Amino acid sequence: MAKILIIDDENSILESLEMFLSEKGHWVENAACAEQGLRRFKNFRPEIVILDIRLPDMNGLEVLDRMVDLCELAKVIMITAYQDMETTIEAMKKGAFDYIRKPLDVDEVEKAVNRALRILEVDRETPCSAATCTAEKAGVIIGKSERMIDIFKTIGLLCQNHATILIQGETGTGKELIARVIHRNGLNQHEPFVVLDCSSVVETLLESELFGHEKGAFTGAVARKPGKIEQAGKGTLFLDEVAELPLNLQGKLLGFLQRLEFNRVGGQATIKSRCRIIAACNCDLSERVHKGTFKEDLYFRLRVVTISVPPLLDRVSDIPHLVDHFVHKISRDLGTEPVKLQTGVIDALSRYHWPGNVRQLENVMVEAVIQARGNVILVEDIRKALTHDPDLPTGGIKAFSLEHVEKEHIYNTLHQLGWNRSRTAQVLGISLPTLRSKIRKYEITPPDIFPGNLSTLQPSG
Ligand SMILES: Nc1ncnc2c1ncn2[C@@H]1O[C@H](COP(=O)(O)OP(=O)(O)OP(=O)(O)O)[C@@H](O)[C@H]1O
Ligand SMILES: [Mg+2]
Repeated sequence: MAKILIIDDENSILESLEMFLSEKGHWVENAACAEQGLRRFKNFRPEIVILDIRLPDMNGLEVLDRMVDLCELAKVIMITAYQDMETTIEAMKKGAFDYIRKPLDVDEVEKAVNRALRILEVDRETPCSAATCTAEKAGVIIGKSERMIDIFKTIGLLCQNHATILIQGETGTGKELIARVIHRNGLNQHEPFVVLDCSSVVETLLESELFGHEKGAFTGAVARKPGKIEQAGKGTLFLDEVAELPLNLQGKLLGFLQRLEFNRVGGQATIKSRCRIIAACNCDLSERVHKGTFKEDLYFRLRVVTISVPPLLDRVSDIPHLVDHFVHKISRDLGTEPVKLQTGVIDALSRYHWPGNVRQLENVMVEAVIQARGNVILVEDIRKALTHDPDLPTGGIKAFSLEHVEKEHIYNTLHQLGWNRSRTAQVLGISLPTLRSKIRKYEITPPDIFPGNLSTLQPSG
């Protein structure tokens, strides 16, 4: 039950709405003009106001303004006619909760009221997250799952040397973010970070993009142009989508990595370089080697250190932290207070399969924040944002399998127990052979690199 105030100068609307909402169990009062409405607002203290935008004695927007000043918690639903579209937008900007069009449809009124009620409930239950949040920093990798913590450790070690790195992971898992963080914390942090997306440049131009060219090297080469390697200087060259590099250029890149020198296209002079290479790809590069589309020796040269970024589905426990991070980041960008989440939102997000990984989660949160009225994200906002996903069969949230939960749990337990299988089996309450077969089934392996492996790397640069 809620206290609802209806303000409209049309008697028929007042009567029918009052009857309808009272029957639903609400406590309803009404007013036929702005002045009377504001008086009732102060005395009656409604939680929900249904307010006509056109009133005889005052513009509805002004009434809205005063109500927001008096009590910003009340949810004001505006009633508008079609031709009031601009005013409606203005009203939403000023803090109206929702608007319903004339002629009134009682179902629509009921939906808006129920939605407001759910939000009021969350408002009451959740303390403002702004008070509890830690300041959001740009370019931070969020994650508390075992696999992400392993990656953080690796990054820490890599910042002390100049080793070539290969970052593998599905699209949107954060490969570029990781590369940037390595650079920003590395020995060469004050030097440039340069990106070359090997898939986005036309093949014939790629060589010149990478190594640069001399004037007249080819038609259109009207002046000498330094390539990305030169632009990177002593900094980092991030070779994104490295699997897309054509074979002939793979050979040239290998030559460069072996000798750390190169020639511009059409140039004679040998140029030395001291940049660090970080390569990324969203496929399994060893498979490409197998298929013969990627040179094996280049693969070995690149994968001195490999970081495999797990798909979001394999680190569901990171979702609440990522959501909190994005909510704060988005509100900071929009210049608003961070939104609150209805109970159940994290659960709904955790049951989705995230083919687009963290990037998709970020996009869904942006959309949900924009959809959210009254500063609360409801489960239905999440559902709506997720139904844009063509993979989603029925508009519902695709539950992900028990097997995924099992896999992550086994991995985490093994990890906490130092990959000791018999102790892990004990803790999990299963036999050792059962654990072994599950490890095989889920292809669980320890993290790619252990700190010990890095001691062989030569610090340089
Ligand atoms: N762990 C994380 N913490 C915070 N933000 C993240 C994290 N992982 C990814 N992101 C954000 O998600 C978005 C996608 O990340 P990024 O561009 O690094 O992915 P990618 O692996 O390079 O994807 P693609 O293969 O499609 O290029 C970025 O906005 C990035 O900041
Ligand atoms: Mg990327």
